Amino acid sequence: MTANSDLETRRRAAVARGAAGKGVYAVRAENAELWDADGRRYLDLAAGIAVLNTGHRHPRVMAAVEEQMAAFTHTCFHVAPFEGYVRLCERLNAAVDTGAPNRSLLLTTGVEAVENAIKIARAATGRSGIVAFGGGFHGRTSLGMALTGKVMPYKRSFGPSPVGIFHAPFPNAYHGVSVDEALRGLDMVLHADLAPEDTAAFIVEPVQGEGGFNVIPPEFMAALREIADRHGILLIVDEVQGGMARTGRMLSVEHTGVKPDLVTLAKGLGGGFPISAVVGRAEVMDVPHAGGLGGTYAGNPLAVAAANAVLDVIEDENLIGRATEIGARIKSRLTATAQRNAMSAIGDIRGLGAMIAFELVTDRDSRAPDPGLAARIAAEAERAGLLILTCGTRGNAVRLLPPLTISDTQLDEALDLLDQAIAAAIGADIAA
Ligand SMILES: Cc1ncc(COP(=O)(O)O)c(C=O)c1O
Repeated sequence: MTANSDLETRRRAAVARGAAGKGVYAVRAENAELWDADGRRYLDLAAGIAVLNTGHRHPRVMAAVEEQMAAFTHTCFHVAPFEGYVRLCERLNAAVDTGAPNRSLLLTTGVEAVENAIKIARAATGRSGIVAFGGGFHGRTSLGMALTGKVMPYKRSFGPSPVGIFHAPFPNAYHGVSVDEALRGLDMVLHADLAPEDTAAFIVEPVQGEGGFNVIPPEFMAALREIADRHGILLIVDEVQGGMARTGRMLSVEHTGVKPDLVTLAKGLGGGFPISAVVGRAEVMDVPHAGGLGGTYAGNPLAVAAANAVLDVIEDENLIGRATEIGARIKSRLTATAQRNAMSAIGDIRGLGAMIAFELVTDRDSRAPDPGLAARIAAEAERAGLLILTCGTRGNAVRLLPPLTISDTQLDEALDLLDQAIAAAIGADIAA
């Protein structure tokens, strides 16, 4: 029995089945590499699900956390605030363009940022209704699950959603949902389900993460902004997965030219430490009364130190530019792969910057999803020493989220392994 399989046996006996995961038990990790309990090395293109934009254990993040650890590890911001928290908020306020002065709030997880953005929007508008979008993902709490537009594995059997949350279609050209159709769907929601005057906010991901790396057409985002402005509705942009330099901009919404009212951040912000934030227009953010927002661990000093170091690294190592380079390298490689005759199962390649997915279909005419093939590719990749994830409302996309600190040599090695995994899963000759 290998160390991995032994751990897998213990896990089955000890860990709730719902907390599913791969069978690769991590022992050590460095930048874009991870070693498992059997001593095998993997290239990591999952990056802890878009968390490790600065790689595993970036030296500057480690140093900042160690320095903070020597000073204090926890006070609770409500009991004894500290400079690092204030500095991080100042920096986030400067990094997010809402077209107005900003305020920030620090929390711990992505879904907590989402929950707080909704609380703030409701307090600021005096309304309760929320419109989210099909295929969107906003987290696993009751409210996060209700906002999420994907039933499996997130919603089934977990009971009814809180009232006042509705879903409109997200445009998806590849699957025949045009911007006009999506806007007609939104109009329908605002006529059939929820009056605009009762709507506090729209919440949308500029690049749907779990939903399949579907990129929002800029004209759709502009239309949301216009409808929101017309009716006094707030626009919340969920950047938990697409933010922090991942798409070749600090925030993925910048690709659309639209300014949001509120932004949620997490994942890449902490470089591996749990921290999230809501950043937004001061006049909105400051509506909730003192004591209405926060939490015991919200803005933990170690995670705050990590986040301040992450912002330094993004700037000093030009990770925004690097994300664009990485994305171009991945896209050109995948395009070449997809052009081989045997690779007709690759129906679509999409994404922004270093947030790239490819969709697997049974054939390119019908575009019928092939989730089994996506799962086989991920399994073959793992066997070959490459960590990747699937995504998509039908589970038929493979997503690539390399650390933005990965070297070209490691990226090329990872893409070679991916090529082999695709060929093995399809049952094709790699040279075909
Ligand atoms: C867009 C988006 N929002 C919210 C969340 C929830 O974040 P967390 O898992 O940290 O609660 C995620 C997580 O994948 C996400 O991708």
